Amino acid sequence: MRLAYILCIAALCPAQDVTPVADHSGDAETGRWTFRIFCAPCHGIRADGGRGPDLTLGTYSAGDRDEDLARVISRGVPGTEMAAYAGRVSDEEIRRLVAYIRSVAHTSDNTSIRGDIAAGETIFWNKGGCGQCHRTGTKGSSIGPDLTRVGRQRSLAYLRASLLQPDADVTPGYATVTVVTRDGKKIVGVERNFDNFSAQFVDLSGKYYSFEREDVISMKREPRSLMPSTYGQVLNETEVNDLLAFLSSLRGGR
Ligand code: HEC
Ligand code: HEC
Repeated sequence: MRLAYILCIAALCPAQDVTPVADHSGDAETGRWTFRIFCAPCHGIRADGGRGPDLTLGTYSAGDRDEDLARVISRGVPGTEMAAYAGRVSDEEIRRLVAYIRSVAHTSDNTSIRGDIAAGETIFWNKGGCGQCHRTGTKGSSIGPDLTRVGRQRSLAYLRASLLQPDADVTPGYATVTVVTRDGKKIVGVERNFDNFSAQFVDLSGKYYSFEREDVISMKREPRSLMPSTYGQVLNETEVNDLLAFLSSLRGGR
C-alpha cells in the first residue's frame, strides 16, 4: 500500500511541473501563495505593507518595470531586511510574485498621507524631540534607529504604529536592555549587542555600556521600546499627519 502511494506521487510530481510556459493566466494566483509564505510577514498578507513597504502603490523605489521588481526580489536590498530570494525561490516563482504584486497594485494614490512635510520636519526637530534619539542624514542622534530611509523601508501603517504605540513592533536590534550591577545599580538602555555572555547598550543620554554576564547580578533584554509612548497625547491629529508626511518623505536623499 505505502509503496504504491509513494510511486504514485513520484509519477505525478514531474507531470505537475511541466505547466506550459506560455500560459500565464494563473501566475498572479500562484504568486499570491508564494507571497503569503515568504513575503507577508513583512509586506502584509495583502501586500499593503507592515514592517516592509506597501507594495500596492503601483510605484517603487526599485523602478517600475517588471524587471526592476524581479531584480529587487532576486537580489534583495543589501544592508536592509529585504533579503535576496534568488537561491530560495525559482526565477519562475519570482515572475509569478511580480505578477501578483502587479495584480494588487492600484494607481490611485488614496493611501498617501495628507500632511505638511515642512511642518512635520519642524515638529520632528522641535516639539517632538525626535532628533534626541533619531538621525536623518547627518543630523540628530543615533540612540534609536536611523530614519534616513524610513519612508522607503516602512509602510505608512507601520510608521503610524511606531509613533503612537512604540511597543507594538519593536525594531529588530533595538530592544530594551536592563542590567543590575554588583553594587545594586540598575542601568537601562537600547540594545547594541546582546548574547548569553555579554550586553552592550546605549542609555538615553547616549552613554555606551558594555558588561560581561559574570560581572553583574542580572542582565535581560525585553521586546519593549524606550521611545516615549505619549506622542498620541502630546501631538494632535494634524501634527501626527504632518509628522507622518515628513517620515514618508525620508527616502535616503537627505
Ligand atoms: C524581513 C522582512 C521582509 C521580507 C520577508 C520581504 N521583504 Fe521585501 N522589503 C523589505 C524592506 C524593509 C524593503 C525596503 C528596502 C529598502 O530600504 O529599500 C523591501 C523592499 C521590497 C521591494 C522593493 C519596493 C520598492 O519600492 O522598491 C519589493 C518589490 C519587495 N520588497 C518584495 C518582496 C517579496 C516579493 C518578498 C517575498 C519573496 C519580500 N519582499 C520579502 C522587507 C522584507
Ligand atoms: C528617547 C528616545 C526616542 C525618542 C525621543 C523618539 N524615539 Fe523613535 N524610537 C526610539 C527607539 C529606541 C526605537 C526602536 C524601538 C522601537 O521600535 O520602538 C524607535 C523607533 C522608531 C521608529 C521605527 C523605526 C523603524 O525603522 O522600525 C520610528 C518611525 C520612530 N521611532 C519615530 C520617532 C519619531 C517621529 C519621534 C518623535 C515624535 C521619535 N521616534 C522619538 C527612541 C526614541
